[in-house]
Amino acid sequence: MTIQEEVNRRKTFAIISHPDAGKTTLTETLLLFGNLIREAGTVKGKKTGKFATSDWMEIEKQRGISVTSSVMNFPYDDFQVNILDTPGHEDFSEDTYRTLTAVDSVVMVIDATKGIEAQTKKLFKVCRMRGIPIFTFMNKMDREGREPLELMEEIEEVLDIETYPMNYPAGMGKRFLGTFDRQNNQFVRFTHEGAETAIPYDDLSNPEYEDLVIHEEFKVAQDEVALLDEAGEEFSLDKVLAGKQTPVYFGSALAPFGVETFFDSFINMAPTPAPRKSTEGVVQPDNPDFSGFIFKIQANMNPQHRDRIAFVRVCSGKFERDMSVNLARTGKKINLAQSQQFVASQRGTIEEAYAGDIIGIYDPNVYHIGDTITESRELFEYDELPQFPPEQYKAVTAKNVMKSKQFKKGIEQLVQEGAIQLFKKFHTESYIIGAVGELQFEVFQYRMKNEYNSEVVFEDIGERIPRWLTMEKVDENLFDSRSTLVRDREGNPVVLFKNEFSLNLFKDRHPEVELIDLYEVN
Ligand code: G4P
Repeated sequence: MTIQEEVNRRKTFAIISHPDAGKTTLTETLLLFGNLIREAGTVKGKKTGKFATSDWMEIEKQRGISVTSSVMNFPYDDFQVNILDTPGHEDFSEDTYRTLTAVDSVVMVIDATKGIEAQTKKLFKVCRMRGIPIFTFMNKMDREGREPLELMEEIEEVLDIETYPMNYPAGMGKRFLGTFDRQNNQFVRFTHEGAETAIPYDDLSNPEYEDLVIHEEFKVAQDEVALLDEAGEEFSLDKVLAGKQTPVYFGSALAPFGVETFFDSFINMAPTPAPRKSTEGVVQPDNPDFSGFIFKIQANMNPQHRDRIAFVRVCSGKFERDMSVNLARTGKKINLAQSQQFVASQRGTIEEAYAGDIIGIYDPNVYHIGDTITESRELFEYDELPQFPPEQYKAVTAKNVMKSKQFKKGIEQLVQEGAIQLFKKFHTESYIIGAVGELQFEVFQYRMKNEYNSEVVFEDIGERIPRWLTMEKVDENLFDSRSTLVRDREGNPVVLFKNEFSLNLFKDRHPEVELIDLYEVN
């Protein structure tokens, strides 16, 4: 196969959701289709205890969750599917966000009994910022949920994206009858035994389906579908690919119901790896020279070896085991002798990879998050990874003042690696660290102790809303206890607002001060 053909087979996506919406269940069902596992319930050991995606770090073991995202890949029809898992726990971190820079599309799982929840909203914001196409799986139709029209209205209002129901449910919970498949003009009947039968619209008047069409739920849904056909948005693949419309699929990941139809439709529509911007212009995915960027570094995956793995999103060319690449930031040549690819939790050595694939390479402590590696001699770098505004803050000091050298070195390296974000107080220069999720602090503390022999003490500051200042000269009198003034790593002034209220109050009082939200910069 040519590189172009390989690229055109690749579908790389992440599944995002709020915890408990059904991401794991959906992933397991998809893996079943890919024949990757024979039995559902083996992706993570949280509940079944059978199998943990990773036993890389103590924290992971203690908490029974996967700290960092893993990658699953499998062939499906003519496609090569790469699913990047994003931690579904509330303690998600910047890694979760960065994973979204390495995918070409996203599946958003929503619990139909709850609608849009906090974490979905946060992750959606990142997808929106990057213009990633989003496909929605409205899960748990086998439970008593909210009205479908209301759920779609909520997506439109809260997330500000057009919706197009690809199918439409008749009833829900105990009275869930199935879905109108608007793509294929058929009704897909649901039975609680899990079977699916497709009945073409034209056959619905046959006497054998009388027991179905007689239901009030069927009639109501039929009217609503007619209404949507007449007055709803039109389906537009262009809009979908531009991230302006989300196709919505109703179903149940657990039953499973509607998952295969969803996946077939999604996988055909989802974009293949696109050209990427770099400092030397746009790089085509079928460019013969291998290139990629690092979006995540995971340390201590194996406590015995203390190794670090850098996750690379391949952007062009053909990756081959043992090849040599150039690290664009330093211009140094590196031999990728121990490249590894991840399938579920098994590490296996891979022979080749193409644009869209994710590879894990051994990191002899040289990589930074956002680094570009390339085979070509003309060095270039892919666009910098966006920075995500931290949401939680802690003041940090060394437990043992005699060890301030290790303390400083550890912080410096972990910050450079992108594990945590560093701020300094205006006059005292004391350290404040910021993270997207609580878990990042724990990982930081663990690594400071184990890798730098420096025990750290935290003082909780709590949630803050950061805004960057553009003022040339900062007038410190403008700020008070509700708005702490700090500097970021580069020395730029940043205000940490206590809450929305203090942010808005400040804006009202000082309309002349320009406040920048990192999401606007990215
Ligand atoms: P997550 O990865 O997004 O956190 O969610 P997960 O798949 O673990 O699912 C959360 C809970 O919701 C699980 O129940 C799961 O069985 C249930 N669930 C997922 N999809 C569906 C669905 O389509 N219908 C129904 N009725 N339930 C669904 P649990 O009780 O927390 O765990 P378990 O003991 O059942 O595994």
